[in-house]
Amino acid sequence: MTLSNVLIYGLLGSVAPAAVAAAAAPFSSANPITDLSLERRALPNGPSGNYSPLAVDCPSTRPSARAASELSPSEIDWLKLRRNNTLQPLIDFLTAANISGFDAKSYVNSASDSDRPNIGLAVSGGGYRALMNGAGFLAAADSRTTEQTTNGSISGLLQAATYLAGLSGGGWLVGSMFANNFSTIVQMRDGYTGSDLWRFDNSIFAGPSKDAQNSGSNSTSSSSKRALSTTTDVSVERRGIITTAEYWTDVADQVSAKADAGYETSLTDYWGRALSYQLINAPDGGLDYTFSSIALTDNFISADTPFPILVADSRAPGTTVIALNSTVYEFNAYEMGSWDPTTYGFVPTEYLGSNFSNGEVPTGNDSRCVRGFDQLGYVMGTSSTLFNQFLLTNLSAAVDVPKFVLDIIEDLLTDLGDDNNDIAQYVPNPFYKYNPETNDFANNTQLTLVDGGEDLQNIPLHPLIQPIRNVDIIVAVDSSADTTYSWPNGTALRASYERSTGAIANGTLFPPVPDDNTFINLGLNQRPTFFGCNASNFSLSDGQSLPPLIVYLPNAPFTELSNVSTFDPSYTLAQRNAIIQNGFNAATRGNGTLDDNWPTCLACAVLSRSFERTKTDVPQACTECFTQYCWDGTLNTTNYGEYEPTLLLDGTTSLNATSAANSLGDVWVKVLAVAASAVVVLTL
Ligand SMILES: *[C@@H]1O[C@H](CO)[C@@H](O)[C@H](O)[C@H]1NC(C)=O
Ligand SMILES: *[C@@H]1O[C@H](CO)[C@@H](O)[C@H](O)[C@H]1NC(C)=O
Ligand SMILES: *[C@@H]1O[C@H](CO)[C@@H](O)[C@H](O)[C@H]1NC(C)=O
Ligand SMILES: *[C@@H]1O[C@H](CO)[C@@H](O)[C@H](O)[C@H]1NC(C)=O
Ligand SMILES: *[C@@H]1O[C@H](CO)[C@@H](O)[C@H](O)[C@H]1NC(C)=O
Ligand SMILES: *[C@@H]1O[C@H](CO)[C@@H](O)[C@H](O)[C@H]1NC(C)=O
Ligand SMILES: *[C@@H]1O[C@H](CO)[C@@H](O)[C@H](O)[C@H]1NC(C)=O
Ligand SMILES: *[C@@H]1O[C@H](CO)[C@@H](O)[C@H](O)[C@H]1NC(C)=O
Ligand SMILES: *[C@@H]1O[C@H](CO)[C@@H](O)[C@H](O)[C@H]1NC(C)=O
Ligand SMILES: *[C@@H]1O[C@H](CO)[C@@H](O)[C@H](O)[C@H]1NC(C)=O
Ligand SMILES: *[C@@H]1O[C@H](CO)[C@@H](O)[C@H](O)[C@H]1NC(C)=O
Ligand SMILES: *[C@@H]1O[C@H](CO)[C@@H](O)[C@H](O)[C@H]1NC(C)=O
Repeated sequence: MTLSNVLIYGLLGSVAPAAVAAAAAPFSSANPITDLSLERRALPNGPSGNYSPLAVDCPSTRPSARAASELSPSEIDWLKLRRNNTLQPLIDFLTAANISGFDAKSYVNSASDSDRPNIGLAVSGGGYRALMNGAGFLAAADSRTTEQTTNGSISGLLQAATYLAGLSGGGWLVGSMFANNFSTIVQMRDGYTGSDLWRFDNSIFAGPSKDAQNSGSNSTSSSSKRALSTTTDVSVERRGIITTAEYWTDVADQVSAKADAGYETSLTDYWGRALSYQLINAPDGGLDYTFSSIALTDNFISADTPFPILVADSRAPGTTVIALNSTVYEFNAYEMGSWDPTTYGFVPTEYLGSNFSNGEVPTGNDSRCVRGFDQLGYVMGTSSTLFNQFLLTNLSAAVDVPKFVLDIIEDLLTDLGDDNNDIAQYVPNPFYKYNPETNDFANNTQLTLVDGGEDLQNIPLHPLIQPIRNVDIIVAVDSSADTTYSWPNGTALRASYERSTGAIANGTLFPPVPDDNTFINLGLNQRPTFFGCNASNFSLSDGQSLPPLIVYLPNAPFTELSNVSTFDPSYTLAQRNAIIQNGFNAATRGNGTLDDNWPTCLACAVLSRSFERTKTDVPQACTECFTQYCWDGTLNTTNYGEYEPTLLLDGTTSLNATSAANSLGDVWVKVLAVAASAVVVLTL
């Protein structure tokens, strides 16, 4: 979308009454999608047609591991397209920012490819809270979101970005967006007729809503898939409604199909399946949708989207604690692996599950390759295994879950052992015998992966600080629950900083960040803050380049107490919308009410490293922005005590709850808060 569109839509003004009545949607979709033939999604290309991986003939060029010394050839080729596609959006974004005395168009056009700004976006973990808050950010950054005000707008940042990384709850957001053909946040929020997409009012433990079955065609309804997991050829008639019992029966059957095909299964399979019903707009949550299929979608092929990346950690064999120097893995549409000097290699995502040994799939008896292991829900589940235990506790307590399902899960846990509830098993280990001197899994047939936030690096910055990717700026959306009442206090950034000082860093650098009390005392957890502004603060060795500038965007209570518990399994649609809206307000500084100069300052952050490379004098407007938004090294380590903020933008509301209202268990106050937030929308 062009700048003029942004301006026109900015005039649209108040929300249509119908949209308010529907789900108290703060910004409505201009064209609600009702035609199911327009369903947007990744591709169902799993070879078995169900959840199970399948051995297939290897392609003529057999899949193999490669060293992490370069970007993959596929990524290099894709980047050529993407960097070119971001050119005009970048010019539009910088022009809209109206940096006084700076001609964005001629600057960008005259800079070489490698001198132009290279933007990465990172969405933290934190369950549904992180998904919703991150969604608000993406809605604000997306030029396709039609109802935006001009003031405070960061519209077009998404179109100008090269990378989009997600982890755990943030990985659900990124995964869902790409599973659904890069639909807009508004489309996913408002859903599709008959679909269960983003219906967070239905607890993930109870299953899809009774009115949201048959999303998509009936021909692949859950019952017809179930037949695949049994040896008997049962043809079951289609069902319009599934109960909680049927939902869990289906999930158990799906996972059993994988086990029956000879693959290890764990709670992660159950969790990933359950998530998929909410996040993938396809029958049964897209049984045969794979992560690698993203690379086959039109949007991605033409590089009209950023490059999606999900992050998981490994847990060293024989340990139960995730150290900060645990190897970090990434999943992208082409490859899965690690940049860390331990594993230091990547394999094709599409062929995960193949019997790799020292980076090769052996010929001879084991000569076949496996596809379908990188099932999309399983990859999202891998990045969020923190929720395995949550699943276990809630399933055991739920009334309608069939006993046989609980029995299967119990058997599974007995096999794995109590300490292994929280793992995703990658068997066969794609890095078996690979880099045997340094890879701590080299001698294990299983690679054990866990939630990407378990090493405290709860923002997926790791893929974006790799020098080889040359990212200049990362907008880091942090919805971590660090404080007693589930607000972030910079822990995730500190973890990434600390990691960059150890042997595991392997050339990655990270800007220094202050302690938790300083974050709170200086309000760095309530407004955007830039870290790493001052290039002269880094001592670079030969050939080393500056790390990205970090724009930290914390979850804070602008118009909604968005600090809902990480382990809250359901939300009314009004509360879901209010938290998305809060994320939008965080990203736009309340449509500029907190600072109408914010878009200019964000644009300056985008340009900062590029100015350095092109030795361009920093415009005065940017110097002022850096004074305002850069952390200047000031500390205030005084113990703040309990951090309980009230709404930062409460001019529109009489809501007077403290953040305790949304903390664990205080259901009644939460109900009041939800009711109040619905009123806010009505009166806008
Ligand atoms: C995916 O979205 C693009 C627009 O970005 C659209 O042209 C295309 O038809 C969609 N694909 C599917 C399968 O819906
Ligand atoms: C770059 O993008 C423009 C349109 O944005 C297109 O016309 C041009 O062909 C592209 N160039 C390359 C090399 O892809
Ligand atoms: C850009 O800023 C100048 C002042 O620096 C102002 O006169 C002008 O109206 C602004 N343009 C837009 C499109 O906001
Ligand atoms: C947008 O910002 C301008 C400049 O500060 C101000 O004059 C105008 O009233 C703002 N518009 C709205 C709708 O707040
Ligand atoms: C699916 O089948 C049910 C019952 O046969 C029918 O009512 C419904 O319209 C069908 N849905 C679609 C999308 O075809
Ligand atoms: C991680 O840290 C531990 C303890 O400091 C050390 O023993 C181990 O070698 C480190 N591992 C890596 C891969 O750096
Ligand atoms: C990163 O680790 C690999 C593997 O150990 C090594 O070959 C490479 O030189 C390291 N890179 C840097 C910049 O230290
Ligand atoms: C794996 O086994 C080989 C051969 O026994 C040994 O040299 C290597 O150090 C082992 N690697 C690890 C990470 O334990
Ligand atoms: C900051 O968060 C960490 C957990 O991430 C917590 O241990 C610490 O107590 C918090 N500090 C403050 C001041 O809230
Ligand atoms: C440090 O923070 C505390 C608590 O917020 C505040 O009372 C104090 O004034 C601050 N100190 C300075 C020097 O700003
Ligand atoms: C900002 O604008 C959006 C879109 O018009 C609106 O939904 C939202 O409520 C506004 N936020 C504030 C704080 O006024
Ligand atoms: C509203 O907040 C004020 C302080 O900010 C507090 O004194 C008052 O008791 C609160 N009122 C209610 C109804 O919670």
